[in-house]
Amino acid sequence: CKAVVLISGGGSNLQAFIDQIEAGQLPLDIALVISNKPEAFGLERATRAGIDTLVVNHKAYPSRDDFDRALQRAIDAATPDLVILAGFMRILTADFVNHFRHRLINIHPSLLPKYPGTNTHQRALDAGDTWHGASIHFVVPEVDAGPIILQGRLKIRSDDNADQLQQRIHKIEHQLYPLAARWFAEQRLSQHNGKVLLDGET
Ligand code: GRF
Repeated sequence: CKAVVLISGGGSNLQAFIDQIEAGQLPLDIALVISNKPEAFGLERATRAGIDTLVVNHKAYPSRDDFDRALQRAIDAATPDLVILAGFMRILTADFVNHFRHRLINIHPSLLPKYPGTNTHQRALDAGDTWHGASIHFVVPEVDAGPIILQGRLKIRSDDNADQLQQRIHKIEHQLYPLAARWFAEQRLSQHNGKVLLDGET
């Protein structure tokens, strides 16, 4: 299964993919890592692992449509089966999302449908939630709203702050995201009535 990974920052989720691929646990070939930010540390992680990188800087384009079209062209040139958003911090146009529909996945640091958007850890704390977590989902044009593949949760401690929660969520993400990608690569995921099925189970 050939993948393109899109990042904007540190790339710790990208690293989790790389580690599992190198350990022979994930049948994924990352053909290309694209960042919209030239300074993203994840680019260095990719280079160290021998993966091609590309910067498509959103600031170089007059509009979101122009940026997304350039991004789409760059991804298409790598002919991926799967496009993985791993900390990619740009909202994507409906045209882009529809072009990659059913092969575009994202990870979001909340128990969706709770807390789409940003600042999820603080919002979970402010709401006095007992549980918090991360969700992996197929991407649809509505932000953070697509069919959920996998969720992991943790219990919020009374003394947790947003930074601590983020660190603990990251650990969950690094386990979940490669697993979801593996299911995709093994063609074990399908969709029915807006829900994701594993091995066709309902
Ligand atoms: C993750 O928390 C992910 O849920 C969110 O952005 C963060 C990316 O972290 N979408 P990293 O760049 O993979 O370290």
